[in-house]
Amino acid sequence: MGDSRAIGVFDSGLGGLTVAKRIMEVLPNENIVYFGDTGRVPYGTKSVETVRKYAAEDESFLISKNVKMIVAACGTVSSVASDTGKALPVPFIEVISHSVKDAVRFTKSGKIGVLATPATIKSHAHKNLILKAAPDTQVFETAAPMLVSLAEEGWYTADNEIARLTIQRYLCDMKSSGIDTLILGCTHFPVFEELIREYMPGVALIDMGVSAAEYIKEYLLKTNTQNNEGGKPSYEFFVSDKPVTFEKTVKIFLGENCRDITINLVDVEKNEKSNN
Ligand code: DGL
Repeated sequence: MGDSRAIGVFDSGLGGLTVAKRIMEVLPNENIVYFGDTGRVPYGTKSVETVRKYAAEDESFLISKNVKMIVAACGTVSSVASDTGKALPVPFIEVISHSVKDAVRFTKSGKIGVLATPATIKSHAHKNLILKAAPDTQVFETAAPMLVSLAEEGWYTADNEIARLTIQRYLCDMKSSGIDTLILGCTHFPVFEELIREYMPGVALIDMGVSAAEYIKEYLLKTNTQNNEGGKPSYEFFVSDKPVTFEKTVKIFLGENCRDITINLVDVEKNEKSNN
């Protein structure tokens, strides 16, 4: 058995590459089709209606690529628009619930932080699930919209003073609250890991991509839909705009995995119309 079709992964931009990278590491045999909505990023400051519309278009584009599963590698879509995935003809994986399970397992102090986009924080998606799983937990939430632009721009390395100061500004209240676990509730944020660790040493960082990739592995095994064909996997990338710094940023996000990828421009709004 098995299923050699690709796993479809999408995000508002390049942040979802942090999830794609984890899937590549945990499931090195799987083919991947990635869509980054770089022309319409950010989603995290937009209304729920707009995010839902964009998510539905992104999903419909990936379905047209004959994928076997769709992963919303976007905290914002996962928290405010995951019901758009329910009607899809393939399984839909969001990135919130698996990260919450890991955070609840890791925390010893019972104080968990969530750093995410304004839309995700407003939805309290992580908080609600944490409190459902462990009602005595204290949850500290902070919206950090500027980190999305810094990540898309490639401004997240430890030598970037603006990124360092922005991290400190967003995390100072959380630091004094004594959390021992921090969910990086936006898929753009794992790129800031080094700076966050430096500012909050000893705090466990939960990368939603790691939690989701482990879940996807289990799911594919359980349903016997893993790719059993040998050879190099294919990685196909689509974006709705190619910003000037795009190729450089993709390389930094994906590291070694970036060698054989092809990047194509696509208009998902048009794609959606022609599907209807
Ligand atoms: N990467 C996305 C997320 O996880 C969103 C960033 C944005 O589009 O605002 O929420």
